[in-house]
Amino acid sequence: MSGMNFQFPVTHNPNSQLDGIDWNNLPFGKIFTDHMFVMEYADGAWQQGQIVPFGPISMHPATSAIHYGQSIFEGMKAYRNLQNEVVLFRPELNAQRFSESAARMCMPTIAEDLFLEAVHQLVALDAAWVTNKPGYSLYIRPFMFATDEFVGIKPSDTYKFVIINSPVGAYYAEPVRVKIEEFYTRAAVGGVGRAKAAGNYGASLYPAKLAQQQGFHQLVWTDAKTHTFIEESGTMNIMFVINDTLITPSEDSDTILRGTTKRTVLELAASWGVPIEERAVTVTEIIEALKSGTLQDAFGAGTAATIAHISTIGFRNELFELPAIESRTLSLRIKTELDNIKSGATSDTHQWVRKIC
Ligand code: COI
Repeated sequence: MSGMNFQFPVTHNPNSQLDGIDWNNLPFGKIFTDHMFVMEYADGAWQQGQIVPFGPISMHPATSAIHYGQSIFEGMKAYRNLQNEVVLFRPELNAQRFSESAARMCMPTIAEDLFLEAVHQLVALDAAWVTNKPGYSLYIRPFMFATDEFVGIKPSDTYKFVIINSPVGAYYAEPVRVKIEEFYTRAAVGGVGRAKAAGNYGASLYPAKLAQQQGFHQLVWTDAKTHTFIEESGTMNIMFVINDTLITPSEDSDTILRGTTKRTVLELAASWGVPIEERAVTVTEIIEALKSGTLQDAFGAGTAATIAHISTIGFRNELFELPAIESRTLSLRIKTELDNIKSGATSDTHQWVRKIC
């Protein structure tokens, strides 16, 4: 990596698609900005990265990522604040997690300053795509995949790192209905659950589809061995409020993704003096709290949805309706505070916001 030029060469897109965007009908993750960042790994080093017009990537049919799944990604967002600046929210945590995911998947890591500079320069170039429309943002998708043209199984010697950006509105249109899953598994101890590995998401689709056929949006994943401990919800970390205490499964097990939004929620709540428990959370205690009425709130925390309130929890043959969203004082306060920090309406006392331009 020595001698790497962090001033990435840019090939401008002569055909901007920006004017054709219908901001009132923006599907999540289907529209992309005019440019993307591309960088290749070869000969044991990352080569000079560059920014090029957004477009298809051609691939050899034996590209190893397609066959064996050495493929990881990140999700982060840029916002346009009230001062008309474009900002990122805690991007260092994504850079760090990307390195951790790469290491676990036997892929080369990317220096965190290089990762951040690539995001920064790409978002700055396509800054006109970051709207100040409330609830909207630019979803940033860095990803890396193995590119050896080889159907034998071994860690690839070559990789491609790409960043694409997509203007987005809300991820979920309504509070989510979830089902506690007691058979299928998202991640097992010793597996890759902590990594943001593409295969984790692929493997979740079939069980999620079964739940969707039963009227749920997502599953609540439980531990692979006993299915008695709560782990995550859908593609998000899960958080509960019981007797005014904010409770979430601890990250000690390597089955749980280390979410940026969850970490932020915990730090905010702690700064307000809210009691917090990061620990093993059992299915039984959640069901008991639902039955006794002490469960005040449950929500998913993730980059795409930020805070996704849970309206209903299904367990075996029972359906539990959660308290009305309006009564969920803590998560509503968190959501408002996060929006205000990102929009610059509240001062960023935690120093989470990074200005792009
Ligand atoms: C997130 O919740 O931020 C995600 O990882 C969602 C993504 C799979 C679209």
